[in-house]
Amino acid sequence: MTHTTRLAVPIFSETVDRLRESIFAAIDAGATLLELRLDLCAEISDDNVRTAVSNLPPNLLLLLTNRSSAQGGECPDDDIDRLSRMDRLAPWFDLIDVELETWRASERHRDLVRQALAEPGERPAQVEVHRRRRLVLSLHDFRGRPKSMQNDLLACADEPSCDIVKIAWHARSVRDCFEAFEIMRTCPKPAIAVCMGSLGVLSRMLAPKFGAFASFASLDRQTSTAPGQLAIRDLKRTYRWDALDASTAVFGVIGHPVSHSLSPAVHNAVFAETRTNAAYVPIDVAPGYESLKAFLLEVEAKPQAGFRGFSVTIPHKEHAIRFLRECGGAIDAIAERVGAVNTLAFDSDSGWRGTNTDYRGAVAAITAGLEKSSRHIGGLRALVLGAGGASRAVVAALVDLGADVTIANRTVERASGLAAEFGVQLMTWDRRAESSPGLIVNCTSVGMTPDTTATPWSGDGFAGNPLVFDTIYAPADTQLLRDARAAGCSTVGGSAMFSNQAAAQWEFWMGTSIDAGTYDQATAGAMAASVEPFGAPTDF
Ligand code: ATR
Repeated sequence: MTHTTRLAVPIFSETVDRLRESIFAAIDAGATLLELRLDLCAEISDDNVRTAVSNLPPNLLLLLTNRSSAQGGECPDDDIDRLSRMDRLAPWFDLIDVELETWRASERHRDLVRQALAEPGERPAQVEVHRRRRLVLSLHDFRGRPKSMQNDLLACADEPSCDIVKIAWHARSVRDCFEAFEIMRTCPKPAIAVCMGSLGVLSRMLAPKFGAFASFASLDRQTSTAPGQLAIRDLKRTYRWDALDASTAVFGVIGHPVSHSLSPAVHNAVFAETRTNAAYVPIDVAPGYESLKAFLLEVEAKPQAGFRGFSVTIPHKEHAIRFLRECGGAIDAIAERVGAVNTLAFDSDSGWRGTNTDYRGAVAAITAGLEKSSRHIGGLRALVLGAGGASRAVVAALVDLGADVTIANRTVERASGLAAEFGVQLMTWDRRAESSPGLIVNCTSVGMTPDTTATPWSGDGFAGNPLVFDTIYAPADTQLLRDARAAGCSTVGGSAMFSNQAAAQWEFWMGTSIDAGTYDQATAGAMAASVEPFGAPTDF
């Protein structure tokens, strides 16, 4: 069953023509509720506002807001003038938004609002669907969670004139979103609960799952009216807005930063392609073990939120294995071998499980490269550049495949630790060009967007015609790969490892296999569609 949550877009402009253009652009993009921000339309007369909102589709809801500066708006008028203007325009709207503090301030305010609610309507939706205009009572806090939040929500719910409760506050951590989910799910009246800021995006993306009355999106990436507000097209195309319902399973990538990860676009594309009732979101968890642990314990404590699995990226891969050890979760043999977990699954009956799919991604990418260049791995001299999280999975995979592995890293202490752990050789960073390996694997971030002309290997140092594998996937074609091809070497790009590790995550979460081509296609599509630089070179 499809959900009934309205996709709301705030509309404002300095001229009536542009206002009308924005309205139609929002309708075209899929908005089902338009919020006219009167306080951001100071130059437009009442008559022109009426013209702008006339003759719009009847199934579209129109909300009138004239936000005070005390609640984050820009209306310069005193409360009486502000409410009087809303009263004059109310007949052209289905809903009006009034701040709880304005409503509480005086009987005069409440009389004006009741008058605005009672004016005969000009829009068919009011007559046919709701019979009368509805009141949204709203609360905003741009600094953090309001202390009196629970009491204020109860006051709104108890107020007979209030039809819809709206609360928006600045999220201090991603865990605030869980409180927003509970408000949407359990409020006795239809509710809008928004966590503002980059840590609150889940409250906007997942609102339909929790039965919210509406979620707010901006017309495009430039016209957001609140921090963390996403563009309507991103919500619909990338985050599966139309497919969400109460039983949607939620997956996500945990990292810091995560906003530029390719994983949401790729996994959501596969969920859509396979008609899986699931959605995948970016989850920004602050660095440090305690932050990850607090988030995962919240997931465990609130199974009704529907979180079922996570990709784990920088800086939490080693924290994730520690969490599993502490909570008695199941760590599979590959994650133990690599010493890090990049994939978690959660089930409220069976608890936590973890694996490392970077390992499988590396094996698949290396094997494909060997086939392409007709080489055998047994005894092949492999030089791994870098000693971070990606190197760990690559070194483990190469050793298990039978290669003769050497590690070179800028910081020698890091490389020596890794070399000792996996029983492989060590080479100093400065002397790396003196070796002539049969396989070079770049696991450093050198060459990633935006510094795309950088390379960890000298352009004329490909003696012996090695196979060259770059784990960086942004850009798809790195300077290292270009130089290697120019020298006649076979190459493998980072997208092969990315899509193979993502396919392995699907299998770990869903318990069924998936055709590798499905993830190859989704990865290629997401890379082609992406216009922004990615946050990390190996942000699998
Ligand atoms: P990941 O988990 O993706 O591997 P990481 O743990 O941050 O990410 O590791 C990044 C790798 O890139 C490290 O090996 C790092 O070298 P240091 O250990 O010396 O930091 C390497 N790296 C980053 N910038 C580099 C540069 N300019 N030159 C050489 N190596 C670099």
